[in-house]
Amino acid sequence: MEKAENKYRFILSILNKTKREIVINSPFGHPAWIEIDLIQFKKNILNIKKHIGQTRLCLPIKANAYGHGLIPIAKSACEAGVEYLGVSCLQEGALLRHAGIQIPILVLGAIHQEQIAELIHYDLEFTIASFYKAKMVAEICQQLTKTAKVHLEIDTGMQRTGVRIDTAPSVIEFLDNHPCFELIGVYSHLATADEPQNPFAQSQIQKFKQFIEAHIATRDKKILCHIANSGGVVHFPDSYLDMVRPGILAFGHYLPLTQAFKDIRPLFSVKAKVAYFKVVPKGEGVGYGHRYTTERDTRIITIPLGYGDGLRRCLSNKAHILMKGKRYPIAGTICMDQFMVDIGQDPAYVGDIITIIGEDGHECMSVNEMGRLCETISYEILCGFNNRLPRVYHLENGSQWENAFLDCAL
Ligand SMILES: Cc1ncc(COP(=O)(O)O)c(C=O)c1O
Repeated sequence: MEKAENKYRFILSILNKTKREIVINSPFGHPAWIEIDLIQFKKNILNIKKHIGQTRLCLPIKANAYGHGLIPIAKSACEAGVEYLGVSCLQEGALLRHAGIQIPILVLGAIHQEQIAELIHYDLEFTIASFYKAKMVAEICQQLTKTAKVHLEIDTGMQRTGVRIDTAPSVIEFLDNHPCFELIGVYSHLATADEPQNPFAQSQIQKFKQFIEAHIATRDKKILCHIANSGGVVHFPDSYLDMVRPGILAFGHYLPLTQAFKDIRPLFSVKAKVAYFKVVPKGEGVGYGHRYTTERDTRIITIPLGYGDGLRRCLSNKAHILMKGKRYPIAGTICMDQFMVDIGQDPAYVGDIITIIGEDGHECMSVNEMGRLCETISYEILCGFNNRLPRVYHLENGSQWENAFLDCAL
């Protein structure tokens, strides 16, 4: 346990050392960075809270808060009135506790035997998703003379984790009969809620509700029932129940958005400074493999960010960057640490700021557009940007920027 404590302390000490005043356009003197607009984040949270009313909001912040930075997002979420945080694993939860986060944290991922003592030590609520795990936790709790706060996961059709709905009553009975368990919640996960026309989500919601009616509603002690992810929150208000768990919606990338949630916006952008400028004659190959050939005499700028930072290499010759409100094509293969852009006859200077994700004037390169170009989803694009890029946080007072190099350097 002491070893683990030291590990989390060490990670946080690195974070604190790297926190310092920065010049906004050059965090740590590094020429490429991620900007996170915490003002917009809080607006998104308030918007969701307005729609869910009395229902609690559990914000999933797994995978470094979908790439936005675990601890700054957690702190900002607490300030905005989020009641619960959802993480994937022990280490994310432990880091949050070391950073001083006190609200309930639910570990959504499957747990392992060697994690149980630490999960309890850090006061993390965790998921029981099988009889086997329930028995394992009971045994360890007995040895430790400790109790565990748990949520039972019921599989209503995702086929990922969770006990079958017909076995769930006997697992609940087992949990009830062991004084080491405090059953805090019962939950399920929707497989198709982002396809509102697909009836499967509604069938999962109904199954879950029938289960609650038969086995939970009659209990003396209140148990939190939750099933809704972003799709559930946007399209299925009858899925709200006691708590909702919208992740990608809170970060502003959920599609399709309905009228009710139309003011929700992204808060994540990626920017860099032009590192090099050259004039290239017509007919020259550019970059590795010469996969781009200039069609005319042109100007090529080099941007100091590459797949080593998380910019997907499959965007080579496909994506555009934004500069002074205009779009320009990535020219040739993206390298590990840099890539080239064809700006035609337009001017650019070393040090000019360009946008890889985000808005510039009337132009926008969205995470969803990048996802489509990579044949993937917004989640994967966001999680892909790693910690070589400093993250810069835009706070309320408009002029203040706080830096955190980040959180998940585990
Ligand atoms: C159990 C669980 N709940 C909620 C979420 C949040 O999903 P979304 O970001 O689609 O809202 C996830 C994300 O994968 C999840 O695994």
